[in-house]
Amino acid sequence: MSPTKTAIRVIVFMNSFLHILISVLFFPFFTVNEYVFMVQARGIQIRENVKNIGAQVLEQVVRGAYSINGTDYSYDFNFSESDAPPTTYLPEGFTYLPSQVCPEKLPSMKGRLEVNMTEISLEEVERFSLEREPSMAPGGFWKPTDCLPRWKVAILVPFRNRHEHLPILLRHLVPVLQKQRLQFAFYVIEQGGTEPFNRAMLFNVGFKEAMKDLDWDCLIFHDVDHLMENDRNYYGCTDMPRHFAVKLDKYSYMLPYNEFFGGVSGLMVKQFKKINGFPNAFWGWGGEDDDLWNRVQFANYTVSRPQGDQGRYMSIPHHHRGEAQFLGRYTLLRHSKERQKVDGLNNLNYFPLVSRSPLFTNITVSLSRKLAPIADY
Ligand SMILES: *[C@@H]1O[C@H](CO)[C@@H](O)[C@H](O)[C@H]1NC(C)=O
Ligand SMILES: *[C@@H]1O[C@H](CO)[C@@H](O)[C@H](O)[C@H]1NC(C)=O
Ligand SMILES: *[C@@H]1O[C@H](CO)[C@@H](O)[C@H](O)[C@H]1NC(C)=O
Ligand SMILES: *[C@@H]1O[C@H](CO)[C@@H](O)[C@H](O)[C@H]1NC(C)=O
Ligand SMILES: *[C@@H]1O[C@H](CO)[C@@H](O)[C@H](O)[C@H]1NC(C)=O
Repeated sequence: MSPTKTAIRVIVFMNSFLHILISVLFFPFFTVNEYVFMVQARGIQIRENVKNIGAQVLEQVVRGAYSINGTDYSYDFNFSESDAPPTTYLPEGFTYLPSQVCPEKLPSMKGRLEVNMTEISLEEVERFSLEREPSMAPGGFWKPTDCLPRWKVAILVPFRNRHEHLPILLRHLVPVLQKQRLQFAFYVIEQGGTEPFNRAMLFNVGFKEAMKDLDWDCLIFHDVDHLMENDRNYYGCTDMPRHFAVKLDKYSYMLPYNEFFGGVSGLMVKQFKKINGFPNAFWGWGGEDDDLWNRVQFANYTVSRPQGDQGRYMSIPHHHRGEAQFLGRYTLLRHSKERQKVDGLNNLNYFPLVSRSPLFTNITVSLSRKLAPIADY
């Protein structure tokens, strides 16, 4: 057998081994959907790797014929998949006037972003954010002054026990939104009490509170641990409903399933009102994003997604630490349609504690089932 073939065999074997190891180690953390997806994703990844590495081994053999020692080739996994065609972005030095609406495809949006997951204190992020943009007002309110913001965007972040994640997100995202010339503010909705985490209900609360501040055009529903890898992933309201987090590192940068609407998604305010917001009945993680997807479909909206690499995200590693899965979600999802009319913005009661931090509004709220009464489904 040739050395090339042997090398490929070893690689295939190692990949299968890795695959089994990953399945065994992580199975308890995945839902069935996610697990099936992971298996498929690994399969595709393995084939890709074999293609890649196979080609590289071949190249090495070819090179060997030309170079003296033939070992000067380093493995280079350069994912050079192109971003959106650069020509659609405005050229460097393009100028706009304070009286004009901000362009959507600014020259400052360069594409690929470095993701820095180093932990940092909130105070430090606050300090350098304000140094860079002194016009940021308490609550993280900001708008451009060199053009008229095209969109007013409220970023809603549901939160519980992830104090080290929030500064990482803010350090990463605030400068991007400023580059994108959006008017924005952050709302961190923290769940108090001892009930299971209710991400969807937190979004409903955040929406109602945010609308008291300003007539926002649209809402971004943003997990605290998702960091975009491309600043051309525009958070303006264009093409909403929109699913932003299309390619997650934890899913091998592939969409887990076509109806996936989790991680980071966005709706115009008028759309969100029309679908009666998120359901309140999803206690524990999982399912609420699928229910939102159903609501969007029932309203006959079409969900858009960023193209190519623009929808890439990295997630800060954790394993739903301490948060229970919601096992009743499949039963609820079967009745999405009936529940939509009676469970959402219209049956929501809550008593928030609101305070302004330099970079976000802190909405702390204790949630319980009796705050969102609903007949049993
Ligand atoms: C051979 O390998 C050495 C390092 O191992 C490297 O410095 C050298 O450039 C290589 N020679 C050629 C011709 O590639
Ligand atoms: C990766 O690809 C880009 C674009 O094709 C290229 O500019 C860059 O030099 C490559 N990097 C490496 C390490 O080969
Ligand atoms: C990441 O963030 C830390 C803390 O803010 C900083 O010290 C470090 O230089 C950053 N790393 C990169 C690569 O930017
Ligand atoms: C959505 O489209 C279907 C089929 O065209 C129609 O029957 C239904 O009334 C529409 N729903 C809404 C909310 O517009
Ligand atoms: C929000 O405010 C509550 C109550 O003051 C506080 O306990 C909590 O730590 C704050 N959350 C964040 C993310 O700052």
